[in-house]
Amino acid sequence: MDIDILTLFPQMFQGPFSTGIFERAIDHGLVSINLHNIRDYTYDKHHTADDYAYGGGAGMILKPEPIFEALESIEMDVKLEAGDMPIILLTPQGRLFSQPIAYELSKYSRLILICGHYEGVDGRVAEHLVTDEISIGDYVLSGGELAAMVVVDAVVRLLPGVLGSEASLQDDSHVAGLLEYPQYTRPAVYREWSVPEVLLSGNHAQVSKWRREQAIQRTLERRPELLDKASLSLEERRLVERLLTSPLDK
Ligand code: ADE
Repeated sequence: MDIDILTLFPQMFQGPFSTGIFERAIDHGLVSINLHNIRDYTYDKHHTADDYAYGGGAGMILKPEPIFEALESIEMDVKLEAGDMPIILLTPQGRLFSQPIAYELSKYSRLILICGHYEGVDGRVAEHLVTDEISIGDYVLSGGELAAMVVVDAVVRLLPGVLGSEASLQDDSHVAGLLEYPQYTRPAVYREWSVPEVLLSGNHAQVSKWRREQAIQRTLERRPELLDKASLSLEERRLVERLLTSPLDK
């Protein structure tokens, strides 16, 4: 997958994209991340990328020209038809990012992400350039860079070959609409706290059942609204009813 990121602060990406899964994915040629400095597409002496808002108000607005030009220069390089790749603006006004959206984006061979900054981005970028607007949560960051990193991380780890084990993706929180069950590793007893007995039993069916129940209970306790959309069997729906009055042992 090729990922192009348009930003005023390319240096922000250096640390995160040179460690962990990114380093591996890039070294193995599974993903290529190209950073484009929006300021390189400004032509005045001071490389001005922002300006005052029409109509007044505090704060500066990112100008449209450098963003359109940066994007056009990428499009000239890759010669892709419009519609082949999502052009995503990171903004608190976007659709709320989620695991299904990460899956949706992981199917493309190329993504373009545009990081807003200052008080916002000229409206013509959203109206005439981008194909999608994404928010990573109901709070306001000082720029779209951290949001872009979040989106890229969630997407890249889904690409085939990036994680050591594809199977581990199946159990991720939010994959089946549930939060993930608790996990433990050695030692079996730490400071007098034992890991749950069933996990040491070697009985795979029992372990699976326990994990599924724990995932349901955790979701019920922490994010009950997720259960409305989760795919649960009739028996599991009954379990939810029971858990409402008598929770499972941890
Ligand atoms: N830019 C500023 N805040 C943001 C958010 N919550 N999500 C995406 N981009 C942003």
